[in-house]
Amino acid sequence: MRYSVLTICLAAALAGGCQRDAAPTAEPATPAAAAPATADARLDEHSYAQPDKVRTQDLALALKVDFDAKTLSGSATYTLEWLDPKATQLVLDTRDLTIEKVVGEREDGKWVDLPFALAPEDETLGSKLTIEAPQRNPRIRVTYTTSPEASGLQWLTPAMTEGKKTPFMFSQSQQIHARSWVPLQDTPMVRFTYTAKVTSPQDVMVLMSADNDPNAARDGDYTFSMPQKIPSYLLAIAAGDLVFKPISARSGVWAEPTAVDKSVAEFADTEKMIQANEALYGPYRWDRYDMLVLPPSFPYGGMENPRLSFITPTVITGDKSLVALIAHELAHSWSGNLVTFATSKDAWLNEGFTSYVENRIIEELYGKERADMENVIERNELASEFKTIDPSLQVLSLKPGTLKDPDGSSSATVYTKGAWFLQFLEQRFGREVFDPFLKGYFDHFAFQSIPTTTFLEYLKANLIDKHPGKVTMAEVEQWVYEPGVPDSAPKTASPRFDAVDAARKAWLDAGTLPDAKLSAGWTTQEWVHFLEGMPETLSVDQLSALDAAYRFTGTPNGEIAQRWYPLAVRSGYTRANDAIAAFLQTIGRRKLIMPTYEALVKTPEGLKLAEETFAKARPGYHPITTGSVEGVIAKAKAPPAAK
Ligand code: BES
Ligand code: ZN
Repeated sequence: MRYSVLTICLAAALAGGCQRDAAPTAEPATPAAAAPATADARLDEHSYAQPDKVRTQDLALALKVDFDAKTLSGSATYTLEWLDPKATQLVLDTRDLTIEKVVGEREDGKWVDLPFALAPEDETLGSKLTIEAPQRNPRIRVTYTTSPEASGLQWLTPAMTEGKKTPFMFSQSQQIHARSWVPLQDTPMVRFTYTAKVTSPQDVMVLMSADNDPNAARDGDYTFSMPQKIPSYLLAIAAGDLVFKPISARSGVWAEPTAVDKSVAEFADTEKMIQANEALYGPYRWDRYDMLVLPPSFPYGGMENPRLSFITPTVITGDKSLVALIAHELAHSWSGNLVTFATSKDAWLNEGFTSYVENRIIEELYGKERADMENVIERNELASEFKTIDPSLQVLSLKPGTLKDPDGSSSATVYTKGAWFLQFLEQRFGREVFDPFLKGYFDHFAFQSIPTTTFLEYLKANLIDKHPGKVTMAEVEQWVYEPGVPDSAPKTASPRFDAVDAARKAWLDAGTLPDAKLSAGWTTQEWVHFLEGMPETLSVDQLSALDAAYRFTGTPNGEIAQRWYPLAVRSGYTRANDAIAAFLQTIGRRKLIMPTYEALVKTPEGLKLAEETFAKARPGYHPITTGSVEGVIAKAKAPPAAK
């Protein structure tokens, strides 16, 4: 069942969920009415755990990294708080794990075998592990081995790395993939501290979302501690030929040796970003902030693993034009990692707040023009996504049962509408009121996981009621519970994009390319906007003219490639095919490559190129990306009725 979960995720994404890197369409992932949902606020519909009965306080991992077998094996020991006096079972989430043994610690300190049962696999949620603990043991230990196909891990052979000498492995736990490498209560409403002892081949450096020591001896034997309580989706591990270079006393980059210098140069503003965040929202509470630059197969842009954000190398363009990604992952240190959504239904509490903060930091460091351009790009995407996605996915606080797979939410809703709502509040109350309010919110709920309703109560008491006459709760409820974007949403103008629009129009109308003096100063955002405003298709001559002037085909900038190649494919510009194949084989970041696959599968020749390229690219893709591409190809080949 290697990709069953991912296939479903993809089906969901294709059917309506359009999580940041997937495709928007018309139906919700699962019709709300038909879903086996729980409306019980103490439970999470995407986890078998019963955190109302017993909760993990601490997790102690002892793991061996085996690159030959492509497994992690060892044990997970949970320190438990038994809440319900009648509870005698510990229920954990797992996926594709081999469970070898379960033991519990008795009052007298002896460890004894505990009976356990692993339920048949659910395609989305994995297998429920039920452990019988009639003595309500204060500690329980599970000994296990992961599968080489674990959905939350990618194993790379040395040939797939930059250095070509050492293998590489990394995790991606969000949303419900931690359960594929650790049996655990895999719901963000449970927070725990953790420690880990990890062994690996001697030449391999191991890092975790914990207290990585920049000076650690590389000896194959590592210990980690994360003394702050985190939700399971922030559990992370990576292993490979990784070296460290500092940016400031508390921040730096881990990367393969060949990538570290350019990464440090690209992310040189990180300390300034931390300080800008601190000035707005209070101290950075996680000790160090380091970044791990992953191989290009990393399926996302970034992942906010605490103390060690995981970052795609595709943002390293040499001109810092894509460092909003760093601002975003760093901002999660407040919005998401400090104050966390209780379930995936409230994803906007993490991603919407973070996108809002990200934009504030970009404005602070690079000016309002840049922040506005980034806003406009996101809102244009929202406008096009909202034309097709089901209204049930356009609300900030999702109804139970809306998402079969938590990876299937709409990124336009969660990120962009979420941020827009906060920009609306900021505009109505003014920054002098709104900034301290948000700082107070992060302080008040620090290290807690909360649902949207808790935020709304806090908002009413601390902002709306304290400053009467500015915003009504009816307006707030419209933003949170109604589809679409309210008319009161603040508009953003971008004179720099107006200039791009004028240049594009002049070229489309009369074939006059923008003056080199103008376009030479364009940043990635302006090129993206230039291409996004093009008609569905252009003539081959027009594409050739653009290519001759700007060399879009073969561009090293993934954001430009993401827009150029689908346009080339739609327009029958086959001259780009070799570059397209090379692009799809080098990069595994879904957001960048899926639009090209989606454009390709629309014609028989394109589908052939997509399938041939995928066959070659697949060994280097992450399971999440593989699932996405398989889904797009399968859907294109399905008989019309099934589409
Ligand atoms: N936490 C997300 C990544 C994520 C979300 C992974 C949901 C799995 C499920 C991360 O912070 C993120 O938002 N990454 C974005 C980049 C950002 C600049 C918007 C991405 O990867 O596209
Ligand atoms: Zn995010």
